[in-house]
Amino acid sequence: MPKSFLSILDLDRNEAHALVRRAHEMKRTDYRSDLLAGKTVVMIFEKASTRTRVSFEVGIRHLGGTPLLMTPAESQLGRNEPLRDTARVLSRYCVGLVVRTFGQEKLDELVKWGSVPVVNALTNEFHPCQVMSDMLSMYERTPDFEGLKVAWVGDGNNMAHSYMNAAVHFPFELVIAAPEGYDPDPAILDNARRLGARVSVTRDPREACRGAHYVNTDVWASMGQEQEQKKREKAFADFQVNDELMALAAPDAKFLHCLPAHRGEEVSESVLEGPQSIIFDQAENRLHMQKAILEWVFTA
Ligand code: CP
Ligand code: NVA
Repeated sequence: MPKSFLSILDLDRNEAHALVRRAHEMKRTDYRSDLLAGKTVVMIFEKASTRTRVSFEVGIRHLGGTPLLMTPAESQLGRNEPLRDTARVLSRYCVGLVVRTFGQEKLDELVKWGSVPVVNALTNEFHPCQVMSDMLSMYERTPDFEGLKVAWVGDGNNMAHSYMNAAVHFPFELVIAAPEGYDPDPAILDNARRLGARVSVTRDPREACRGAHYVNTDVWASMGQEQEQKKREKAFADFQVNDELMALAAPDAKFLHCLPAHRGEEVSESVLEGPQSIIFDQAENRLHMQKAILEWVFTA
């Protein structure tokens, strides 16, 4: 069976920690290899991307391989060729698929019908590569993760779900503050708790941020939810991460955002551009973590 990376829970605890240490080592040494020499990785992107796309393309090249981008607009994907056919065709050309799409079940279908590993480059449900890279950003500052409180302020979305899964393997306490109607998926939450994650959900962003070592947020309307923007602006109005919220966090707390950010919506300009913000270190770490993930996927 090819080794796919669809969710952080595809890793066991040792693998998750090893991946963070490996990405850290790759960052330190500006790592290059010929692991993927002569091989092509197809990147199917059904949603927009700057960081994930470019960091994977560059990362694949750093490992000696060739990335090949496929979008619905320029392929038969946009004309409803079934995924099960696409999976079988692409498996004859390339060694792996990096896929950004809508429902997680599309990745399951690619795995089922294809014969090469599939990497989740974001779905409606999860964003595991981003959150593993955030684990690297935390590891660099707080290597043992013990005694940490992480606040998630905003939508109980794909990022929140992957943070819940990360809390299964990394010993931080996660407090999610979401308005009513925007909680994380209860099945994903229950599963993470059953596996040992310490996660609570509140309606009060101040409670989430009080004493937090990391304060994290994301856009109010994710890709595919653009038509809900106005409704969500109302629902999330009290959930902006601003100076008042950051003042409740630990004195040396860091602000995280996977980007792209909407200044003046989920985060104030002052926090995003302020001294506690580590958003560009976070973005850089995508590259190093992508290489570690690719190595994990393509090494027996
Ligand atoms: N954070 C993130 O996944 O960014 P992109 O949408 O630009 O890939
Ligand atoms: N939750 C956001 C993350 C973007 C990187 C989205 O899915 O659009």
